[in-house]
Amino acid sequence: MAGRFITFEGIDGAGKSTQIDRLQTLVEASGRVVCRTREPGGTPVGEKIRGILLAEDMTPETETLLFFAARAEHAARKIRPALERGEWVISDRFTDATYAYQVGGKGMSGERVEALERWTLGGFEPDLTVLFDISPAAAARRLAARAGAEDRFEAMGEDFFAKVRAAYLERARRRPERFLIVNAELAPELVFDAILRKVSPWL
Ligand code: TMP
Repeated sequence: MAGRFITFEGIDGAGKSTQIDRLQTLVEASGRVVCRTREPGGTPVGEKIRGILLAEDMTPETETLLFFAARAEHAARKIRPALERGEWVISDRFTDATYAYQVGGKGMSGERVEALERWTLGGFEPDLTVLFDISPAAAARRLAARAGAEDRFEAMGEDFFAKVRAAYLERARRRPERFLIVNAELAPELVFDAILRKVSPWL
C-alpha cells in the first residue's frame, strides 16, 4: 500500500489540531501506520530550531533559513523514510507556511524561497494540503480562549494574519490539484466531512 503525505495549513488559531487528531484516528483504523509530525520541528534538530524560532527575535532572512534548515532535516530523516516504509505522513505545516508567513506576511522574496525549496527538497511536495481558511478576527478569538502564553508568531496582529491568509489562498488557487480549502469557521463535523471526501478514495 502506498503511503500518502498530507499537510495541514492555515493561520494560527484556525483549529487544525482537532482535525489532525480525527484524521489520524481514521487512517489508523483502516490499518495504516501514521507518522504524525509538525513544522517547525519533527526531528531532534528540528525541535531545537523550533525553540529558537518561536522565542527569539531575528531578521526575516535568518528566520527563513532556519525554517528551511529544520525542513531539510525533517524531509530527509523523517518524512521520506516514513513514506518509503508505506506509512502515511500527516504534518502540521510544511513549505506552504514559509510562502504564506515569510513571503506573504513579511515580504521575503518568493524567488529566494523557491531557490531554497529547490535546493533542500527538489520537487518534493505533499500529495494533499488542507488549507484551513478563517478570518483573522475569528482566529484571534480562538487563540485568546486557549490557555498558555502566545509565541512570537501568535502575537502578530490581525493585519499580519490578513496578509498570511491572502498568500495561502492565492497559493491554493494556483494549485487546485494539491489543495483542499476548508472553511474553518464551520462546525468541526462539516470540516471533517470535507477532508474525508478527499481522503477516502485513498483508503
Ligand atoms: P505552530 O506549531 O503553533 O503552528 O507554530 C509555528 C509557527 O511558525 C506558526 O505561527 C507559523 C510559523 N511558521 C512560519 O512562519 N513559517 C514556516 O515555514 C512554518 C512551518 C511555520
